[in-house]
Amino acid sequence: MNPPSLFSPLKIGPYQLEHRVVMAPLTRMRASRPSLAPRPMNAEYYAQRATPGGLLIAEASPVVETGFGNPGVPGIYSEAQIAGWREVVDAVHAKGGLIFLQLWHVGRVSHSSFQPGGALPVAPSAVAIPSEFKCMTADGKVVDYETPRALETDEVALMVEAYRQGAKNALVAGFDGVEIHGANGYLIEQFLQSRSNLRTDRYGGSIENRVRFLMEVTQAVTEVWGASRVGVRLSPYGIANGSGEADPMPLYGHAITALDKLGLAYLHFIEPRASGTGRAEVDWQNVPSAMVLYRPMWSGVLITAGNFVGDTAQSAVAEGHADAIAFGRYFISNPDLPRRLQRGYPLTKYNRATFYAGEEKGYTDYPVHDELAQA
Ligand SMILES: Cc1cc2nc3c(=O)[nH]c(=O)nc-3n(C[C@H](O)[C@H](O)[C@H](O)COP(=O)(O)O)c2cc1C
Repeated sequence: MNPPSLFSPLKIGPYQLEHRVVMAPLTRMRASRPSLAPRPMNAEYYAQRATPGGLLIAEASPVVETGFGNPGVPGIYSEAQIAGWREVVDAVHAKGGLIFLQLWHVGRVSHSSFQPGGALPVAPSAVAIPSEFKCMTADGKVVDYETPRALETDEVALMVEAYRQGAKNALVAGFDGVEIHGANGYLIEQFLQSRSNLRTDRYGGSIENRVRFLMEVTQAVTEVWGASRVGVRLSPYGIANGSGEADPMPLYGHAITALDKLGLAYLHFIEPRASGTGRAEVDWQNVPSAMVLYRPMWSGVLITAGNFVGDTAQSAVAEGHADAIAFGRYFISNPDLPRRLQRGYPLTKYNRATFYAGEEKGYTDYPVHDELAQA
């Protein structure tokens, strides 16, 4: 049998993908304000990147008002947001594409200026992100991160319910599935890692306790969707937003083994060689490969992301390290990325200055490859 290729079909849960070029979740900060609902321009952007049987993972979307740390990010907790997302989903479906929504809470990666009533951000423990990392306030000032307020034990259960409600809202909006954002130093990863979790209740201390919040959120979300339409994103060895576990293997080995029992749609990594949040152009050498290390612990579909281009993506799939590759920055600047990779067309370079916020420029105005002009 031939090894799989980036362009061979793949079954993810109940869905049949026609190719394995996945659009990674990408925060673009272009939702309507003040509703924080997706708007027609957002639907156009996703539709441009949809292909028959291609999977898009829509940008991280807070499940509750305390979950924001950036302006202009779309939410998934209000009627207007559900209606806005439905327009996005319909536009993607009209092109035969599939779309999952990434469910988000930033935890301590926020500032009181984003919080209801100007309260402190919430987190597992009252531990601030170190001052070498800077925080942008809602009115654009660069400041140190505040020390968050630790969630009470009964508030953790309410947070699990917020994810459940976000999952329900995504179902109402018509998505094909959801991805739980457990990466990049945000709330779930703050629970996972010992540097941000000093709790002494059942959510802190031992690895099993630190993994509990991830498992409870995943359990709640799978109760809404069924496990086969739920993915989880993790970034073992990542260092985004002040994260990082001294010895990731026992922690992530435990988490991945526990998740593997659930029969999820997929596990989705960010490779440590890349910037987890895509905020820097780095390609760290001599770092572990998440897909290589953890693949033996995962029996389902594995997606990974981080500095892939056509040939490296193809070999990762052909060698069996991953089943599909998610592309971030090159999917921003190449709306027809699957076709370009399949035909070996050159890629348009992205413009970092237009990643976050703004209008059409750097968002819906990237061209598709014009075969005639190149001939
Ligand atoms: C502008 C931008 C926004 C991003 N937003 C998210 C996000 O909302 N959720 C997430 O899990 N990762 C996010 N990432 C990380 C990407 O999903 C991806 O893992 C990373 O960019 C590495 O892939 P690449 O090398 O193909 O760009 C973002 C990256 C960029 C560049």
